[in-house]
Amino acid sequence: MSSDDDCPGDMWVITRKAPAEVMEELVKVYQEAYQNYPEYAENGKEKIISYLNGLTQMRPEGFLVAMLNDEIVGFAVEGFYRLQGERIGEIMEVAISPRAKGKGLGKKILNLLLTVLSRYQCDRVYLEVGRENKIAYKLYQKVGFKSFRDDGKWIHMVKEAASDTQPASVAPQQEDNS
Ligand SMILES: CC(C)(COP(=O)(O)OP(=O)(O)OC[C@H]1O[C@@H](n2cnc3c(N)ncnc32)[C@H](O)[C@@H]1OP(=O)(O)O)[C@@H](O)C(=O)NCCC(=O)NCCS
Repeated sequence: MSSDDDCPGDMWVITRKAPAEVMEELVKVYQEAYQNYPEYAENGKEKIISYLNGLTQMRPEGFLVAMLNDEIVGFAVEGFYRLQGERIGEIMEVAISPRAKGKGLGKKILNLLLTVLSRYQCDRVYLEVGRENKIAYKLYQKVGFKSFRDDGKWIHMVKEAASDTQPASVAPQQEDNS
């Protein structure tokens, strides 16, 4: 996949509580996405709904949904807080259904989240990824995250603002003078 612009699919934002029919789809996507990684996921529909409700209500514009051919196929969520004078962003969740995997949607939605977070001028963005979850780890590396701690279950990663490469979707257009 050369750039996010080549990636199919649309993105939209949940700004408040998700309607019940949307929540059903989000639960399905979450269960599908984590079917090979139950140890890193909430298990059971009620727990998943409660987890997702918490995420949708965290922050306006923080919950992005990916659509492909009119179906919800993924979502991603950011968090933001201030700690000892620093502005900290967090990737809370990224999930793409196997129905849509490998099309660049994971990278695209993650870059969009980083674009949303860039408005808050974060000093750094953190996330945690399951240490056996090689695919997600590779995706995060690709967009500039580096690991700094392994606690046995999770690898903790950070993307420093100083090492920021602009997400592809917001990179300034280069003039082609050739
Ligand atoms: C991780 C996940 C979001 C990737 O979504 P996706 O839409 O399939 O990923 P993309 O098509 O955007 O691929 C992005 C990068 O991920 C990596 N990747 C994707 N699929 C891969 C695979 N099967 N094997 C190895 N690397 C893979 C590659 O580095 C890829 O970049 P490239 O295409 O330039 O090589 C998705 O697999 C998922 O939801 N997994 C389960 C939930 C999860 O692990 N979430 C993260 C929690 S921390």
